[in-house]
Amino acid sequence: MQLAGKVALVTGGSLGIGEAIARAFGREGAHITVDYFHHREPAEHVCREIGHGRAIAVQADVSKVADIERLVQTTVEKFGRLDILVNNAGIEMPTPFLEVTEEQWDQQLAVDLKGPFFVAQAAARQMIKHKKGKIINISSVHEDLPMPGNAAYCAAKGGLRMLIRTLADELAPHHINVVGIGPGAIATPINKHTLEDPQKVQALLSTIPLGRIGKPEDVAGLAVWLASDAADYVTGTTFFIDGGLMVHAGSL
Ligand code: BGC
Repeated sequence: MQLAGKVALVTGGSLGIGEAIARAFGREGAHITVDYFHHREPAEHVCREIGHGRAIAVQADVSKVADIERLVQTTVEKFGRLDILVNNAGIEMPTPFLEVTEEQWDQQLAVDLKGPFFVAQAAARQMIKHKKGKIINISSVHEDLPMPGNAAYCAAKGGLRMLIRTLADELAPHHINVVGIGPGAIATPINKHTLEDPQKVQALLSTIPLGRIGKPEDVAGLAVWLASDAADYVTGTTFFIDGGLMVHAGSL
């Protein structure tokens, strides 16, 4: 029970990595707001499994500040405080650079960078009240590693990398830790387009020393640790969890 009594908000918490993190937090005793964008039922399902009264599903679009404020307010009204934020909601729209439209760029950056920025701001305003908090951002190996055909996604994740480091510094006096998790290739709806193409899967596997695509659960354990008091001295860094994919980056 590493998170007993803590209150957590997981954006995009009804599927993929966010779902695995919400469930793992639930097993560790946290109360959780499961944010979702599209479909209520999967979010309700996760909440039912976490347990009666311990989790609520809230619809919010993380690219809209008004939605974010309602999301955080609802959490605090229901559970009394906010200790842990997981900025997990994200989208990916692989498109050759020469074809990217203004609308695609705006949408990519709105969900993957503006969202984490303003959810962190609303969450930090709560955490400051009790001088402690954890903000965990689900970034990507592509905060550092280029991915041709996905420039807007890479730009958003690169921006998130700097947001993490800047907020870690700015919020440290309030004992709010800000960290990143950089997953590699994890089997979730975000990379369905790759996983459904055997040739793309082979190409991807050839870059992963551990020779397999990761599971959302591979990421959830790290999130539990980062959210717990055991990681109180950890801030301003990204933890890659990628089966070794980053060993080929050469830059870290
Ligand atoms: C992307 C996936 C990709 C993986 C490894 C993730 O950030 O969402 O589409 O397969 O990185 O390249």
